[in-house]
Parts: sequence; structure tokens; C-alpha cells
Amino acid sequence: MAPQPTAQQVIEGQRQDWNRVAGGWEKWDRYFDEQMAFLNHRLVADARLHTGMKVLDLGSGTGYPALLGAQTVGPNGSVIGMDLAEQMLEVARRKANRLGLNHITFQAGDVTALPFEANVFDAATSRFCLMFLPEIPKAADEIARVLKPGAWVATAVWSAPEKNPSIGLSMAAIKQVIELPPPDPAAPGIFRLAKSGELAGLFQQAGLIDVTEQEFLAEWSYASADEYYTSLMEIAAPVQNLMAKLTDAQKQDVKQRITQAASNYRRGGRIVFPMAVRMVAARKPL
Ligand SMILES: C[S@@+](CC[C@H](N)C(=O)[O-])C[C@H]1O[C@@H](n2cnc3c(N)ncnc32)[C@H](O)[C@@H]1O
Repeated sequence: MAPQPTAQQVIEGQRQDWNRVAGGWEKWDRYFDEQMAFLNHRLVADARLHTGMKVLDLGSGTGYPALLGAQTVGPNGSVIGMDLAEQMLEVARRKANRLGLNHITFQAGDVTALPFEANVFDAATSRFCLMFLPEIPKAADEIARVLKPGAWVATAVWSAPEKNPSIGLSMAAIKQVIELPPPDPAAPGIFRLAKSGELAGLFQQAGLIDVTEQEFLAEWSYASADEYYTSLMEIAAPVQNLMAKLTDAQKQDVKQRITQAASNYRRGGRIVFPMAVRMVAARKPL
């Protein structure tokens, strides 16, 4: 069996992966914003953001939900968006400039080692980041440390692959073409926090209270199976990594399988996928 990568190697891999796809995220930004903005609103609500607050967004990527957080807290508040990938943050900064938001800053860093004093943030948010961390309990401890007493953290992570076919079917198609080692359920990855109670339990262990969890069901849609395939290849770093293992002929085969499988989700002229997101919120005791 191949040796497990160290935490530092995982983090370095993540940094490279997400920097590589930053151009794709910028290209597809409008589409994903239109399809997934409701999750930002849900996170802003779960974190109880209001005017004047100082907020930390973990793994902001190209600025979600940090930008909505900044609009919500207003110029008397502030938001720091943190991410490993400097090139994702460059996209986020351009968007903040366009929106005229001067009270948001984007800072490169690892969310498992937060460079902040204890008890400084009024709230924290995080969308689709925590499952990629090699040491999630450490991140939970760090979140608990930097929040002020009584402050909320609100997070979104992907639920199970079978409930998220837009991600799961691409993995399944690749597995039909090349043999992949069975996934290690403890290894960082898209579905690492899919199980009910997992992240909630880590928040509890970190000393957070009033933990809530909901599997939030929704849909997202694409104009065509080809559009879905193209966006997937340009933004999904974990899928890109698997595709890189294939020959050109295998890539064609996978493309055909993915677009074929996606066509099964055609409804009303679009490809409509269900999605299931695990929303986990908690707060620091007073
Ligand atoms: C799927 S993207 C989500 C970005 C954004 N929050 C969104 O929802 O659009 C995951 C992000 O997590 C970041 N990330 C992964 N591990 C991280 C770590 N240890 N510290 C900070 N950011 C990390 C990646 O660089 C990437 O930008």
C-alpha cells in the first residue's frame, strides 16, 4: 500500500490543485453564482451576520460566501477571506473591487493554523472547504479559539455522492475506465464530511455548543450535458486529478460516459441535478 501523504503534503497538493483551476472558476463564476448563491444566503443567516460584525470566511476560494458576508456586515464591519490558493483569491479580490467592497480582505493561509489572536471574530463561515483538510479536528479547534464567546460558525459541506450525482457520476465514470484504489474514508476529499454527525461531532469536541445540522436538498441545472462536462473539467480539481491519469482514448471514453449519464437528468430542456449539502452550525459558549 502506498504511504499516506503527510498533512503538509496534502495541503501543498490542495494549494496546487486549486491554483490550477482558478481560471476555470473565474470563467464559470457567473454560472455558479446564479446556481448556488442561495447557499451563501443560508450561511450568512446561520452565522447570524449583521451590520458591524468582524467575520472570518474559511477557504473562500473566489469569494463565497465572503463577498455576501461583506455586503451584509456593511462598511462598519469587516470580512477576512482565507484560502490556500493565492490565484483563487486574486479572482475574489477582483470581484470585491468590482462590487466596491473596501472592508473585505483576502489573505493566503491554511485554515488549520489561523494567524489570529483568540476571541477576535464575531462570526465565521465556510463553504465547501473543511472536507479537504488533512486535520479537520485541528480546524474545529482553531475556529473555536478565534471566535468571540457567543459567536456562530456556519459551514456547508457536500453530503453523500449518491445524492450529488453531478459530482458522483463523474467519479463513477472514471472508475469504469481505470481501476482506482478503494477510497480511504478517512482521507481528505469531496465527500470526507458527507456522513451525518461527523462535522457536528467535531464541533462538539472542539467545545462548541448549540450544534445544528441539516441535509439541505436543492437542485442545480446546466443548459446541456456538454456544458456540464466542460465546467466540471475546468473547475473540479479532484476530478481533474483523476482525469490526468488517463490516456487520450480513455478520456474520450470517460467524456462519453459522463455526458451519457448526465443526459438521464434531462428535464424541461435542461440537465437538472439534485444536490444535497450538509449545513452545520454551532456557537462558542458565552
Ligand atoms: C471547492 S473550493 C470552495 C471555495 C469557496 N468557498 C466556494 O464555495 O466557492 C475549496 C477551497 O478550499 C481551499 N482550501 C483547501 N484546503 C485549505 C486549507 N487547508 N486552508 C485554506 N483553504 C483551503 C481551496 O484552496 C479551495 O479554494
